[in-house]
Amino acid sequence: MAKVQEINASTSRDRVEVRVRDLLDRMSLEEKIGQLNQVEASADNVLDLLGDDIRAGEVGSIINQVDRDTVLELQRLAREESRLGIPLLVGRDVIHGFKTVVPLPIGQAASWNPQLVEACARLASEEASTVGVNWTFAPMIDVCRDPRWGRIAECLGEDPVLTSVLGAAMVRGFQGASLDDPSSLAACAKHFAGYGASESGRDYNTTNLPENELRNVHLPPFRAAVEAGVASLMTSFSDIDGVPATANSFLLRDVLREEWRYDGLVVSDWDAIQQLCVHGLTETRDEAAYQAASAGVDMDMVAGAYLQHLAGLVASGRIGLETVDRMVANVLRLKFRLGLFDARPVLTDEPARMTSRSLAKEAALQSCVLLKNEGRALPLDPACLDHLAVIGPLANEPAEQLGTWVFDGDPQRSVTPLSAIESLAADAGMAVSHARAMPTTRSLDETAFADAEAVARKADVVVVFLGEEAILSGEAHCRADIDLPGAQVSLVKRLKAIGKPVIAVIQAGRPLTLTSVIDDLDAILFAWHPGSLGGAAIADLLFGRACPSGKLPVSFPKMVGQIPIYYGHKNTGRPPTPDSIVHIDDIASGAAQTSLGMTAFHLDAGYEPLFRFGFGLSYTEFAYSELSLSAVRITPSETLTIAVNVTNLGDVEGDEVVQLYLRDRFGSVTRPVRELKAFQRLTLAPGETREVRFSLTVEDLMFYKRDQTRGAEAGTFDVWIGGDSAADRKAEFTLTQDSPAMA
Ligand code: NOJ
Repeated sequence: MAKVQEINASTSRDRVEVRVRDLLDRMSLEEKIGQLNQVEASADNVLDLLGDDIRAGEVGSIINQVDRDTVLELQRLAREESRLGIPLLVGRDVIHGFKTVVPLPIGQAASWNPQLVEACARLASEEASTVGVNWTFAPMIDVCRDPRWGRIAECLGEDPVLTSVLGAAMVRGFQGASLDDPSSLAACAKHFAGYGASESGRDYNTTNLPENELRNVHLPPFRAAVEAGVASLMTSFSDIDGVPATANSFLLRDVLREEWRYDGLVVSDWDAIQQLCVHGLTETRDEAAYQAASAGVDMDMVAGAYLQHLAGLVASGRIGLETVDRMVANVLRLKFRLGLFDARPVLTDEPARMTSRSLAKEAALQSCVLLKNEGRALPLDPACLDHLAVIGPLANEPAEQLGTWVFDGDPQRSVTPLSAIESLAADAGMAVSHARAMPTTRSLDETAFADAEAVARKADVVVVFLGEEAILSGEAHCRADIDLPGAQVSLVKRLKAIGKPVIAVIQAGRPLTLTSVIDDLDAILFAWHPGSLGGAAIADLLFGRACPSGKLPVSFPKMVGQIPIYYGHKNTGRPPTPDSIVHIDDIASGAAQTSLGMTAFHLDAGYEPLFRFGFGLSYTEFAYSELSLSAVRITPSETLTIAVNVTNLGDVEGDEVVQLYLRDRFGSVTRPVRELKAFQRLTLAPGETREVRFSLTVEDLMFYKRDQTRGAEAGTFDVWIGGDSAADRKAEFTLTQDSPAMA
């Protein structure tokens, strides 16, 4: 069966190549260059603005038009009124939902649930395809270790394996079983590569990534996306080792095309070809077009640089026709694969509202992370509460809970926390009073705090909705201080002083430093921006109708000065230990310079984050036992099975994310102190024990070595399994020989 499928796939690939070649042979140079040109199409009079260009074959793709009739008409012009009838790629940033919004990608990552993430992408593509969009600019799979960076909202966290698994799941979700399914979108893995390492968390900033770090940390998710069949890749705005990604032939040719054999489309980011001049790489736009084209960027997103300069570059012989043909073939191939030449219909019906709402709610439920639950402050029991205070600027904000990148998200579909709590309370006969306390999260105005305090005084418990509005994260929305903004810290202190339990629900597009409020809060539920059904999910979690199960996909620092802080760091030659560190307040007067431990820590922050990667509490507790390995010595061709028993010790059903970490003790380049290698989410009934098994092959032990080839090196590995990155069930095994070097 597999053989038959393989033959069918390769014959359909061959058929596409024949059609691409046939079309290329009939195209003029101008028509070819037109295919490499993506234009902005959001204007109301876009038909007037672009009609003639499309008829002339000067437009290969449009971006940002989502009015169905307009898209259909633009597509008709291309198909019926251009000489060769080549249809358009219709691009849109459909990042975490279309009309129905699911949690931010960083929130989805907290579910550690690839099936759920795939289903969310599928829903988005089913909705977006009904307006004629056929290409989305997601997933963003930049590994990010800097919560100051606004785009952390759009990424899948700090870890290469988690990002790879979830990124590939998104690709499968958007692209469906087949790209030519009318409800599928072409996915676009972005931003190739290194964007997540923008210096100081400032968007578009320079990155300094040595090749080994690039290969071991930042490239694996892209390779996984390529292996998952991603239809397109977008270059990063950033500069890497002095060469902006949009002109970087090492990335685009050597790695992507030669090492990975990628045959999809590469598009620049917005205006990025023109920005090569601004970077100071090229003096003129035609040199920018030359460098981007010769490095391997096939399509120019809105800069118009290819349209303007490629013909001249061909005429002068700087760019060969075979280069142009290769670029155009990459565009046409995608159009054939999408079925655009075969009258792919534009569906009229969105998925059933009930189905999309229940998926959006499930995703929100699984994305919330319970960070603190002192004295089991949560879940709230409505039977024991007469009066609940709901306070704060984000309790009832239908648009803010959707987060960044929601051009098309419909706030009318939002269920806010306040409305969900009110309806739940009405059923339980509990009173709810609401005080907003602050006009925005950024406000420094405390005049409404007195009203909030009055509301809190009347209540048995206070639930305070804190965080950041959508505008505070996302592209170009970076912060240098990632504490709760405005007067929120002061609000927490004032509420705490009243003496009632204070529970915080935090909605934000990034990890925040919560050090200044952590001791004032009895419980903290971190909800990211949870999307359309976020309020319903939050209410269910607060009242124990659902059990929190999210786990952090990124470390939360205690203070901003710790950044970058991530679990998979190197050991250093002087690793800190609890005994080796000294706090600034404990330095004795006249202490000798060498008396302070001499290890890698901060005098004021130690070396641990506030909340570690993989961490998240539940309303139940899980115990790990009987960790066992199928062998303690393996050869490169053997598979190692690692098993552990997980028991739900509590009296409610709960989901646990079982995480497996490895440490390769010695290598030709130093290896991280821990690396996530596998994980599994499972549901356990009260008292239930389940055996969880992981299989590791030599692929899981490979890394880019000192000579930048990939392989596994003989030696001893530590393995830990548990519920977060500090898992302490430990075993070890030995790989007896080096593996052969791999591509
Ligand atoms: C710029 C962003 O960096 C990219 O992620 C996005 O897809 C494009 N603009 C298109 O809107």
